[in-house]
Amino acid sequence: MAEPTLGRRRLAWTRYWAEGDLHSLGTSFPGNYADSIGTYWQAEFAVCKTGAQILDIGCGNGPLAKLLVDLDPSSGPSLTGIDLANPTPRWLSQQSDSVKARIQFHGGVAAEKLPFPDNAFDLIVSQFGIEYSELETSQAEVVRVLKLDGRIALLIHHSESLPVVASKHELRHLSFLEQIGFLNIVEKMIPYMSKLAALQKARALNDDPSAKETRCLFDEAEALIEKRSHTEPIPDLLVDTRICARECFRLAAQAGVQPAIARLSQYRTFLRDSEIRLAELIKSAQDEKGVHRIQARFSALREKPVQISPTPLLVNDHIFGWVLRA
Ligand SMILES: C[S@@+](CC[C@H](N)C(=O)[O-])C[C@H]1O[C@@H](n2cnc3c(N)ncnc32)[C@H](O)[C@@H]1O
Repeated sequence: MAEPTLGRRRLAWTRYWAEGDLHSLGTSFPGNYADSIGTYWQAEFAVCKTGAQILDIGCGNGPLAKLLVDLDPSSGPSLTGIDLANPTPRWLSQQSDSVKARIQFHGGVAAEKLPFPDNAFDLIVSQFGIEYSELETSQAEVVRVLKLDGRIALLIHHSESLPVVASKHELRHLSFLEQIGFLNIVEKMIPYMSKLAALQKARALNDDPSAKETRCLFDEAEALIEKRSHTEPIPDLLVDTRICARECFRLAAQAGVQPAIARLSQYRTFLRDSEIRLAELIKSAQDEKGVHRIQARFSALREKPVQISPTPLLVNDHIFGWVLRA
């Protein structure tokens, strides 16, 4: 895959957030982050005083803001979230006016150029966010906008974590689907499926060699996907793709070719966006050397030395990310 432009990366994430997920690991954590991740953030937020200012880098739809609000909806610190993409934090509109006054989101803002004055924040947090940026520039920005006695708390992608392993599997599934041309075959099938509702036309398909040939192609491709789904450890994308094909066929039979093609086109966009997001996740993940480099950079930038070593955070015995405090 060619390196996507900044605009394309923004769009991929903006569309993802518009779908309404609270965070980017929806399959692992339905709802908000729980377990050790939730506990980690709750502990960081609990020591913040009412009125303290928190900045969340790469905030997405605001899972950290939601954890903060859930800790104490009546009062507490304020949180400003920034993201290169445009988040769609629908949950915020259902909150009280006092919560809305404490939480702000700014889309279209890069971590490399924070639109805030020096010494503005008491705590700067980022969960799977800052590592997506140019770290040399963004870390300097973080230190610039952080108060001298402020704190930094990060959860960073770990190169051996479950999300990285899962993303590698999904990228392989994407190239397999591309290689067998599955969505193109689904597209070819749609006009035939649209004829199934009318008995006469459906009967005519039995005598149409190109309909039979397309059906064979589809059956063969689907059988390949099914076989792969049974042998792969994380087959969700393959299963979802088959479900989408069936959905397109149902639409074609019930509502006609156009709605089915529109659904397929929406799914193609989703897969292209997924490819960008998954590749970005893998690229941003840090091994031990990388995370120590981040730590060393903060130490050099801050007057206060960084004393705590980055540690892997585990969820159900799986590595999930690096915890780094500075
Ligand atoms: C994996 S998501 C994490 C979102 C959220 N923190 C969460 O835990 O669900 C990464 C986010 O970082 C954002 N991002 C990527 N590069 C960025 C940059 N240079 N500056 C700010 N945000 C960035 C993306 O748009 C995306 O919303």
